[in-house]
Amino acid sequence: MKIAVIGTGYVGLVSGVCFSEMGNEVICVDKVEAKVQMLNAGQVPIYEPGLQEVMVKNAEAGRLSFTTDLGEAVRKSEVVIIAVGTPSLPSGEANLSFIEQAARDIALSMEDYKIVVTKSTVPVGTNGKIKEIIAGLSAHPFDVVSVPEFLREGSAVRDTFNPDRIVIGAENEAAAGRIIELHRSLTDNIIVTDIRSAEMIKYASNAFLATKISFINEIANICEKVGADVTSVAEGMGYDNRIGPSFLKAGIGYGGSCFPKDTQALIQIAGNVDYEFKLLKSVVDVNRDQRYNILRKLETLLGDLNGKIIAIWGLAFKPNTDDVRDAPAIEIIQELLKAGASIRAYDPIATANFRQWVDHDSIAWCSGALDAAEGADALCLLTEWQEFEQVDLKTLQETLRKPILIDGRNVYSEERIAETGFVYSSIGRPN
Ligand code: UGA
Repeated sequence: MKIAVIGTGYVGLVSGVCFSEMGNEVICVDKVEAKVQMLNAGQVPIYEPGLQEVMVKNAEAGRLSFTTDLGEAVRKSEVVIIAVGTPSLPSGEANLSFIEQAARDIALSMEDYKIVVTKSTVPVGTNGKIKEIIAGLSAHPFDVVSVPEFLREGSAVRDTFNPDRIVIGAENEAAAGRIIELHRSLTDNIIVTDIRSAEMIKYASNAFLATKISFINEIANICEKVGADVTSVAEGMGYDNRIGPSFLKAGIGYGGSCFPKDTQALIQIAGNVDYEFKLLKSVVDVNRDQRYNILRKLETLLGDLNGKIIAIWGLAFKPNTDDVRDAPAIEIIQELLKAGASIRAYDPIATANFRQWVDHDSIAWCSGALDAAEGADALCLLTEWQEFEQVDLKTLQETLRKPILIDGRNVYSEERIAETGFVYSSIGRPN
């Protein structure tokens, strides 16, 4: 199939690369010239394991190219995928201006029938708007199909080739059939719905996963008070097939470019039709508060934080990504600075991105995990990078000024900690 992908952000780039790997001819479009040049030179602007290799292979095979010329890409393709950003507006609502612009650009470029596929996460009703925009500007036939994306950062290529399901929202059976064909080799779980339900599935899925995380985080907080271990509790719950084991890892809450934005957007979507989504509002509140556990624990162990040196391990919102959008580390570090602490921070790959959000004279940007721990009054682990798990705890203890370790992701086992002299505090476990 001939495919144009508009937007080379996370979703667009990964989808474009993976569709080319499946044998399709893909042209990816971005309006930023420098990004297109970079991609044509074989460089990937995001950190995503495995993506560059697949991209270069398919570009060399002539199945994948990058351009700023949207019109040409649209004219050459049967399927046009919209994968532009839908950032949050200050109200929490999704900003649809990039989507609307893409629809106008497609309408003004097309010269024959197109299937316009929306992969961006969009509020219910947006595909209807896209249809109106295109129909208002072009006399050529087209169909709009909603195919929400469920890939995770850090395992995006693997997720794309091994999806749990593909959701296709369509009005026209023939168009749905073509999009089913495009995905048939990936999974048997292809669900075809009306367009509004497909749009809702995406938000409901992310909101449900966020709910699982906030739920287990509150259970963890209660476990700390009653002397239970949230890891065992989650394991015991997860064996129930109706609950399932995933997304029950207690920690310092979810971050990233999706859950925070999509939960807010769904609260707004509900509010717009006079429905107060009380449960989801609580999920968001619990998530914000969970980050503060780190600060509360530090204060319990160190007293006043003014003048203290705090080592921070992990700045990315989760491991295997350099993405720091809405990372708990941002708010935690800002609060520590406000309290008068100085910071020694280390992340394997996310430091440069993080410094665009928070930079301060009282933060030392360290080149390694032990370097960050050097002389610190306490260490807080905020992202569960594998290298932190593998660290030699004895050496770590000797490197810190005080042997205080606050493990925000429950990385270390009780046994390993018991062999050391650490004052150790984790999330929802007896310490
Ligand atoms: C999430 C969804 O998992 C994807 O299905 C979806 O496609 C994507 O959002 C999106 O809408 O684009 P992602 O944000 O990449 O993917 O990351 P996740 O692996 O889901 O993790 C999100 C956050 O939840 C991280 O901060 C992680 O640390 C946290 N988390 C996850 C927990 O605290 N506990 C868990 O048990 C699982």
